[in-house]
Amino acid sequence: MSTGQLVVLDHVVAVLTAALWLAAGAVAAAGRTRVALGLAAGGVLAVAGRLTLVAVLADRGWWFVQEKVLVGVPLLVVTVAAAAVLAGRPLLRGGDLPPAAVTSLFAVGYAALAGFVVTYVGGYPLTWSVALLAVAGVAGAVLVTAQAVVAPPPAERQTAGGPLTRRRFLGVAAAGAGAAGIGLAFVRAPSADAGGGAAAVHPAEHGTPVTDLRGPTTPAAGGAVQTYSVTARRSAVALTSGREIDAWTFDGRLPGPPLTAVQGDLVEVTLRNEDIDDGVTIHWHGYDVACGEDGAPGTTQDVVAAGAEFGYRFRADQAGTFWYHTHQVSHIGVRRGLFGTLVVTPRDATPDDVDLVLPVHTYDGVLAIGDDDGVLAPDAARGASVRLRLLNTDSEPHRFGLAGTAFRLAAVDGRDVHDPGEASERALRLPAGGRYDVTFAMPDRPVALTVDGEVRLRLGGDGDVPDTGGWPELDPLHYGGPDDVPFTLDTDYDRHFTMVLDRGAAMVDGRPAFAQTVNGRGHPSIPEQLVAEGDLVRFTVVNRSLETHPWHLHGHGVLVLARDGRAATGSPLWVDTFDVRPGEVWDVAFEAANPGVWMNHCHNLPHAEQGMMLRLRYDGVTAVAGSHARH
Ligand code: C2O
Ligand code: CU
Repeated sequence: MSTGQLVVLDHVVAVLTAALWLAAGAVAAAGRTRVALGLAAGGVLAVAGRLTLVAVLADRGWWFVQEKVLVGVPLLVVTVAAAAVLAGRPLLRGGDLPPAAVTSLFAVGYAALAGFVVTYVGGYPLTWSVALLAVAGVAGAVLVTAQAVVAPPPAERQTAGGPLTRRRFLGVAAAGAGAAGIGLAFVRAPSADAGGGAAAVHPAEHGTPVTDLRGPTTPAAGGAVQTYSVTARRSAVALTSGREIDAWTFDGRLPGPPLTAVQGDLVEVTLRNEDIDDGVTIHWHGYDVACGEDGAPGTTQDVVAAGAEFGYRFRADQAGTFWYHTHQVSHIGVRRGLFGTLVVTPRDATPDDVDLVLPVHTYDGVLAIGDDDGVLAPDAARGASVRLRLLNTDSEPHRFGLAGTAFRLAAVDGRDVHDPGEASERALRLPAGGRYDVTFAMPDRPVALTVDGEVRLRLGGDGDVPDTGGWPELDPLHYGGPDDVPFTLDTDYDRHFTMVLDRGAAMVDGRPAFAQTVNGRGHPSIPEQLVAEGDLVRFTVVNRSLETHPWHLHGHGVLVLARDGRAATGSPLWVDTFDVRPGEVWDVAFEAANPGVWMNHCHNLPHAEQGMMLRLRYDGVTAVAGSHARH
């Protein structure tokens, strides 16, 4: 069973455990001892199942069970033991249960419930605050229950200053634990995480301002200067079906103007904001520009307000398929259309006969490639070399199928795959923000591209398209031919950061929320990751949640080392965005060779908005002073 499935099952069994024991208590209180016995027996089985699940999950990684092992399971074990002592014999004997026995049945239910809440709301890492609140919650609930099921105690035992009864002791302990738990919830996180490496040498505020880190001013030898100007504005744009989209656009079109360059060119882009009230920036997704050009509002530049402009400049050193998009309120801006493609072709290579740039995007719930919400049908002569540049500009993954031909996955995220082998009848699952270049020679029969099971592009005429839904996925971690890599799982890294992704209660932008969290916290309270130039850095990204998180680091391509502890084989896999599915653990690495302050976030943009975003900062570099930017 996959770790993700185990996580779901664990949730289900936890809730079932709580339900069975609470029902047993309620039924026992009503005097129906035989039914209570049955429910309690079911409850014991559920507890046993829970313990087994936790043991299996523990094998997948401590991240998946920490709070269960430290809080959920001990609470369960203690309360089950108490119930066995207090209620075991009376239940088996039949007849009315004494109040303590009834209470003990409820107690197991509270413990199971508390364990579930700790997992679901608290998550990883477990804090003292959450642990104490859980214990206080169970103790408090037990006290209230005891009060309810017991006749009032004799008057003399209620006088103030009387002997310390077991119940009063429990009350005091619960109140103390609860108060401590609440207090500890306000302890601030450290502001930086050095990942096991050296602490900062330069104070965070007194480094080189990131705004000084600008791109080169000249093209490489033989390169040209490509000058673009794009204007952000609201516009009603029709898709090819005629359907009108109330869009936010670059230059009034969907997507924005396609930017192209030849490797080595200098690209200069002037961004003007006409009337996007929330402001706009341009981030060059996957392009390792100088940090001052990165377009992260409030980090690398101030947001470009309506009426203002900003000039970007970078050298097109990376050839491949990329895209650009606003980074201001991006969960809305990108969705509504503030994005476009950036394709850089190599200077020396012969171009493909047919080279199609295919950004897949969902506008108002309608899927389109470019602005075409129907079926594209460009020309492709038999024998032509074809390159399909697939881009996912949405926040959820898309599944592609190429029917009618064998193909090669020539590039992932704008980086060439080494020795890509021929594949056929394989689906390609593209993470949000990611790109795949697919190449093939046009056969003498029709070829069709499906997106999420529907035909969206045809080459060489109409033909029957098989159902691509059942095709196995091509796994880029085990595809292509091996080549030299600068680091592996065995390398000694200067810094190693673990990011555990989950949902939970956390502060996001100063407000409490059921957030998308990294290590239990939400943006901007997640400690920044500190690196020094030249460091070898490893990320371990763990997904404890039930949703997929496309992880994206700005300014660097990362090399995938392993997934779920299994090393990647085949071609070195360099990516800028990788899908961490529920229960998965990814290990990736990069060299810190591009100084700056870089956003590091989930590219499901609503998730980033809900907290799943942090910064990676080079020692000696300072971000722009806090503005009211919202990513
Ligand atoms: Cu394409 Cu920070 O994002
Ligand atoms: Cu996410």
